[in-house]
Amino acid sequence: MFVPRKYSWLIVAAVLFTLVAAPFCMASAHGKQKPKKTGILLVAFGSSVKSAQVSFENIDRQVKKAFPGIPVRWAYTSRIIRKKLARQGRQLDSVAVALAKMMDEGFTHVAIQSLHTIRGEEYDDLVQTARAFTAMAEGFTKVFIGDPLLSREKDLQAAAEAVLANIPKARKANEAVVLMGHGTPHPSNAFYAAFMYQLQQKDPNIFVGTVEGWPGIDEVVAWLKSKHIKKAYLMPFMSVAGDHAKNDMAGDEPDSWKSIITKAGVKCVPLLKGTAEYDNMIAIWLAHLKVALRHL
Ligand code: CO
Repeated sequence: MFVPRKYSWLIVAAVLFTLVAAPFCMASAHGKQKPKKTGILLVAFGSSVKSAQVSFENIDRQVKKAFPGIPVRWAYTSRIIRKKLARQGRQLDSVAVALAKMMDEGFTHVAIQSLHTIRGEEYDDLVQTARAFTAMAEGFTKVFIGDPLLSREKDLQAAAEAVLANIPKARKANEAVVLMGHGTPHPSNAFYAAFMYQLQQKDPNIFVGTVEGWPGIDEVVAWLKSKHIKKAYLMPFMSVAGDHAKNDMAGDEPDSWKSIITKAGVKCVPLLKGTAEYDNMIAIWLAHLKVALRHL
């Protein structure tokens, strides 16, 4: 066949396009043949603490009640927790394993709900993993990820209202409430200070510190001193009252927040309840899941 020289590049381009694009075209054709099957994947950091399982079960129940008929699966992002529980005979799925299983079960549309507190590293990893599962040949037709607890401005407002409602009634206005967040080197660590600002618009004696980021315990103690606080309620601002809450916040070791704050002359009342144990906090995650499902 004679091909004018000036068109030969077109043929080369067409051949290349066929070679490169064919697998993707087939993939989308396969996707269309599959009947639509929608599922929910709940993603938590995970915890080895028993009380944490209770709050996870509570969330599971509430999600199933809010979205009846949609199958619910779970994944846990902490490798350490997964390994720890595996040694106790409990096999928990990572996000990749949970999504692979869902793919295998024929799900085409998945609403993934992050049960994290902020958009930190765990959330970023979740986004990347989910993206990979939509890119592969047998992958999902659509995946949408629901926001973590604190994402939009209205979340900060709603979470602040929830915190106020969850403070014990016995607490007086001149007594402080100190929330212990996790904290992270990730840029989203700024959410903690932003959240404290929102809280203090409503109640000036609420403080937010973090175990692994800024503000830390030194800042918290300085604030308590500057306001001449005599008594403080300590509350974890993590989904689960796990290791950090039990030891770093309420433990008897000299470097726990309870010990440091007590040493500064402030009486401490530690409360061991994670945010996922409060229905008004779960409601925020549920609202985010509703948005995710609407986007599928
Ligand atoms: Co930690």
